[in-house]
Amino acid sequence: MDNQPSIRIRRRDTAIVATIGSLVLVVFWLFGELGFVETFVAIATFAGLSTFYYLTVSTTLNPSPGALPARAEASPPSGPATAELMLRQLPIPVLLVGPEGRIEMANPAAREFLGLGALAGHLSSVLRQPGVLEAVSAALRGESGPPVEYSTMAPDESHVRAFVAPMRGSDDPLAPWRAMLVLSDETSIKRADRMRADFLANASHELRTPLASLAGFIETLRGHARNDPEARDKFLSIMLDQTERMSRLINDLLSLSRVEMDQHVAPDGEVDLAVLAGEVIEYLRPQIADKEIGLTLEAPQRALAIGDRDQLTEVFLNLIENAVKYSDPKSSVLVRIEPGRLRDEAERPESMLGEGANRRTLAAPKSGTAERYVTVRVKDQGRGIDRRDLPRLAERFYRVGGQKSGPNEGTGLGLAIVKHIVHRHRGGFTVDSMPGAGSVFSAFFPEAAGAPENSEN
Ligand SMILES: Nc1ncnc2c1ncn2[C@@H]1O[C@H](COP(=O)(O)OP(=O)(O)O)[C@@H](O)[C@H]1O
Ligand SMILES: [Mg+2]
Repeated sequence: MDNQPSIRIRRRDTAIVATIGSLVLVVFWLFGELGFVETFVAIATFAGLSTFYYLTVSTTLNPSPGALPARAEASPPSGPATAELMLRQLPIPVLLVGPEGRIEMANPAAREFLGLGALAGHLSSVLRQPGVLEAVSAALRGESGPPVEYSTMAPDESHVRAFVAPMRGSDDPLAPWRAMLVLSDETSIKRADRMRADFLANASHELRTPLASLAGFIETLRGHARNDPEARDKFLSIMLDQTERMSRLINDLLSLSRVEMDQHVAPDGEVDLAVLAGEVIEYLRPQIADKEIGLTLEAPQRALAIGDRDQLTEVFLNLIENAVKYSDPKSSVLVRIEPGRLRDEAERPESMLGEGANRRTLAAPKSGTAERYVTVRVKDQGRGIDRRDLPRLAERFYRVGGQKSGPNEGTGLGLAIVKHIVHRHRGGFTVDSMPGAGSVFSAFFPEAAGAPENSEN
């Protein structure tokens, strides 16, 4: 308590006041203004009061002497023990490198990151990054520099930014320098950056192709095709196709960004998938009739799922449109809605294509998301998809067989949109396919509570 400065100052002031007061009284006595007894009593009173104040000043300043916890709360914890505790909890690798380049201290995050055993040796034996080692050597000479970045590709891709700072344990100018090394893992930031850049490059490329073709036709129409009505009609119809393709692309991009935006908010509406499937099939009727596809819908009376109506419509549109688009004329397509499926039945149903079909899960719900699911299965007798292409189907702009930009070619965004919608709905998405025999795309969504369990007809 004595080391509290305000108490010390008050005690000093009390002593000074008491001394000066006593001296004044003595002077009065010397000049005969006061008698000996009065002077003595006054000085004794002064001394008594001051002593009393001197002894009680700490309790008057802090009225609850027993309230130790309150005092502990007021003064923040400090000291090396607390710092070490904090370092241990820190999820960022931090190391202290001694004058010889030996690791003197490494927090658990650093041990895990560098795979350090119980005995930590030289930094150079666990971190073979010349840039970082050079920065550490400089720090051991007392020099500080900018952060150093490094990347590794094996065993996993990782991108790290290393911060190195010179440190001295004491104020002694002759004490050796140590280096503090902090490793910041920026792999996910780098990956997200690259994905964004790739996406932009792909999107611009996709838009530039039809735009370039439009510009070419406009040139031709202004030039030698100006007076050729036949050529003009032909070119105008190609131009119309190209503009439709561009608007399809922009619609898909917008819908992808909309789904991504509310990815974290699960939908809460109830949608009858049996009704929805019928509506989408009616909407696609012209395309189906064009290719003379025999389309069958197998659905119960009701199949209530938890979902967003517009987004589920988009799922049905994409899957059924693909089945029609990637099938030969006159082949058949089956759309089947199955309510009340357990997760395992929904994710790994019996194959509709028989032996030899390949299956791939494109999206899966977290375990325990829902008890029962409504499954939507779209089966075609189309060209099928090679096993190697299955994992990449739901990637943005991915089209089997590379980039195609014919007027009726798709954008390659449809299945990416489906995957995002399924993900937002806490559902799952799988594909079964056999080249030459056909494909089955299945999506499943959490069933709405109170939905009849087995009402298939
Ligand atoms: N039912 C299917 N049968 C065969 N191939 C399909 C089927 N559905 C999708 N694909 C392949 O997957 C690719 C991606 O599909 P999608 O994302 O819907 O893009 P697109 O706009 O090209 O239809 C398509 O280009 C096609 O090659
Ligand atoms: Mg498509």
